[in-house]
Amino acid sequence: MGTDPVRFGIVGLGRSGWNIHVDNLRPRDDAQIVAVSDPLEERRQEAANEFGCQTYKSIDEMLKQDDIEVAVIATPSVLHGPDTLKSFAAGKHVIVEKPMAMNVVEADQMIAASKKADLKLFVHQNWRFNRVFTHLKDVAESGKIGRLYHIRNYSSGFSRRDDWQTLARNGGGVLNNTCPHYLDMLIQLSGGAIKDVMGDLQQIASAGDVEDHVKAFLRAKNGCTIDMETSSAQNVAIPLPSWILCGTSGTLTSDGKQSTIRWYDPEEAGSLEVRDVAAVGRKYGSESKPLNWQEEIVETRGPDIGNFYDNVTGVLRRDEKMIVTPESVREVIRVMVEIRKGTGFPGFNG
Ligand SMILES: NC(=O)c1ccc[n+]([C@@H]2O[C@H](COP(=O)([O-])OP(=O)(O)OC[C@H]3O[C@@H](n4cnc5c(N)ncnc54)[C@H](O)[C@@H]3O)[C@@H](O)[C@H]2O)c1
Repeated sequence: MGTDPVRFGIVGLGRSGWNIHVDNLRPRDDAQIVAVSDPLEERRQEAANEFGCQTYKSIDEMLKQDDIEVAVIATPSVLHGPDTLKSFAAGKHVIVEKPMAMNVVEADQMIAASKKADLKLFVHQNWRFNRVFTHLKDVAESGKIGRLYHIRNYSSGFSRRDDWQTLARNGGGVLNNTCPHYLDMLIQLSGGAIKDVMGDLQQIASAGDVEDHVKAFLRAKNGCTIDMETSSAQNVAIPLPSWILCGTSGTLTSDGKQSTIRWYDPEEAGSLEVRDVAAVGRKYGSESKPLNWQEEIVETRGPDIGNFYDNVTGVLRRDEKMIVTPESVREVIRVMVEIRKGTGFPGFNG
């Protein structure tokens, strides 16, 4: 453990490598970007001009640079596994973008290589640090709405994509691209392990050979069910809530900004006995015991647990615990493979 800045080499200078990783690392006192790699000359030049680091056309050349401690893999998705293994072989810790891997075999190889080399494998499931997620987790764990028995997650938009993300050979598609974020949060909220998976993939609006619409129904080991719809092919006039957490004594509904939490106290409500008679007044429900519903409207914003890089530098310099373990993300990859299975849809997950 030291106190000197952690030295990073970033592979791939696109939306993720540049807009997320470079942007997050540059202002930090405990981090330094010492190298970048991208086949595009103008992107290498931009990095050299802006923060004077070493630049390389390929990861292989970059990994020879001794002072790099952590390789940040922000390349097209199909390269995440191979680039991670190369980085471990070169003695670097790794931050790998989502999706962690194309399949479970690859995820397991990455985890095994990290252990063998005694180097850290961080998966950039950055939404786990979002205050939307910490809010949902907080409410779920508080017991306020009882035990979660169903979670509904909805995200939609309409885009006609025509870039590398529309090709299976690059590991493209909405399942690999957008769903890792939602699946990761859903799996965490529902106890960490999924038992049953049913999925549907469709290609509606984008070019290429991959899906732009994903629907999945999951059942967690603890019995909680999950309905996830992630679509780039819907221009809906009245968006559905992004999140509905259904608990045994309440419900949270959120559009991602504001949460309405409705709940009642089961103890105050008391037990409910069956009366095997005609419904009183031809009405449903137990009129004799009206529930004392409570309602709270709050920002969908939970505790600040720091950001992804606070945890990376914390683990590497201050002996802190890794928040997103690669083992927990392996479950995301396993579920993605299961969703794709049986849809007959082309993809790299096998
Ligand atoms: N966590 C997030 O929120 C988030 C956001 C965006 C993208 N991503 C992930 O990041 C990865 C990259 O996506 P993007 O949107 O940045 O793509 P992009 O097309 O914007 O950028 C990719 C970059 O990688 C470079 N590149 C291609 N092959 C390379 C190679 N062999 N070595 C080095 N660089 C190479 C390209 O020239 C380009 O600069 C994807 O896997 C995606 O899932 C994650």
